[in-house]
Amino acid sequence: MDRLIKKAKALKGEITPPPDKSISHRAVMFASLAKGQSKIKNFLWAKDPLSSLNAMRALGVEITITDSKEIIVNGKGLHSLKEPENVIDCGNSGTTMRLLSGILAGQPFLSILTGDDSLRQRPMRRIIEPLRLMGANIVGRAENRFPPLVIKGGSLKGIKYNMPIASAQVKSAILLAGLYAEGETSVTEPYKSRDHTEKMLESMGAEIQIESNTIRINPPLHSLKPFDITIPNDFSSAAFFIAGACLVPNSEVLIKNVCLNKTRTGFLEILKSMGADIEILNIKEQAGEPVGDIFVRSSAALKGVTVEGEIIPRLIDEFPVLCVVATQAEGITIIRDAKDLRAKESDRIKAMTSELSKMGVSIKEFEDGVEIKGPCRLKGAEVYSYKDHRIAMALSIAGLIAEGETVIKEADCVDISFPEFYDLLEMLQR
Ligand code: S3P
Repeated sequence: MDRLIKKAKALKGEITPPPDKSISHRAVMFASLAKGQSKIKNFLWAKDPLSSLNAMRALGVEITITDSKEIIVNGKGLHSLKEPENVIDCGNSGTTMRLLSGILAGQPFLSILTGDDSLRQRPMRRIIEPLRLMGANIVGRAENRFPPLVIKGGSLKGIKYNMPIASAQVKSAILLAGLYAEGETSVTEPYKSRDHTEKMLESMGAEIQIESNTIRINPPLHSLKPFDITIPNDFSSAAFFIAGACLVPNSEVLIKNVCLNKTRTGFLEILKSMGADIEILNIKEQAGEPVGDIFVRSSAALKGVTVEGEIIPRLIDEFPVLCVVATQAEGITIIRDAKDLRAKESDRIKAMTSELSKMGVSIKEFEDGVEIKGPCRLKGAEVYSYKDHRIAMALSIAGLIAEGETVIKEADCVDISFPEFYDLLEMLQR
């Protein structure tokens, strides 16, 4: 499905963005490992977390969905999963495949994980290597580079692992395998990535210690505790509307109940340093996370910035929309140290360079980032999503400030994380 976007006069109103994708995946997986009944409210009903839910069902976990769309997971403990009868399809979801691999590394049975065309081209050596060091039998296609993955778990031992890249998916896979390993497992990241796994496992009573960028885990002495959780809303989905409200003149948008975990909100820090007009209101705690409303007004004069180093993992999913913001900032914006963007649902550096160029942007591609010269009058164009949800949404925001009409080719991929994206955009658009 293609989508036509017209220039907007203003964005005005209040929205509730979808529930957090990272927490939704983890909630359904971790509840499956607990002993007892967990209740999950405000789960993200989108393709990606559904891949995780279906995978846990395929592993024999009893999961029911109530009329009010609450999920009830009847966890039977760490050692209760069953050999799946078929290959598990992780769809487009790297989080499902990588986190699940960590869990399956500790199971005494055979599992095969596959995914769609995009997922089958995403790097898996980053999890295969550490899981093998722990003693798992795990192989992948093309000399262990890509899925499908075949995993025959077994007796694992703890390792001390220095991660070459900051990645919450890799960190989580190792920590989950650590639940099943003999002795202590420790992971150290070069920079801190999102920390939902360690926070959630800790709240379930796992033996976990966090000390700056190192996390240590020991197999639990007692069963992991079930939980009742109301998942907060996703900052990464909110980011498209934060950017839209900054860029479209005369805008005022209130975005409700968003997870403001520091390991996720680098984009907010960068926008503020560019001069954006953003207020955070009603801060409270929900599901062990800081949550608040984000009020955004259009910004008259944004300034270009350099974005690199430790902040990159804290805004990794916001790169496509940050590029769009940079097109309207006075001066040069440079984003570096972000080579891993080439291994996301699409090569996001290449995708944003080629599609923003079609809209008239002066953008230079580096191996690990981009340089964008602004401000630039965008012109409407036919642009391609690369079947990547975040590219489709970022280009749609660019379309709101472009002269004429913008067509996003294959825009239905927004279903991966944000099925109501276009409905909310229409609702706010004046
Ligand atoms: C995620 C981690 C990030 C992020 C992805 C979700 C997670 O990936 O890009 O959208 O939920 O753990 P990496 O761990 O590969 O950086």
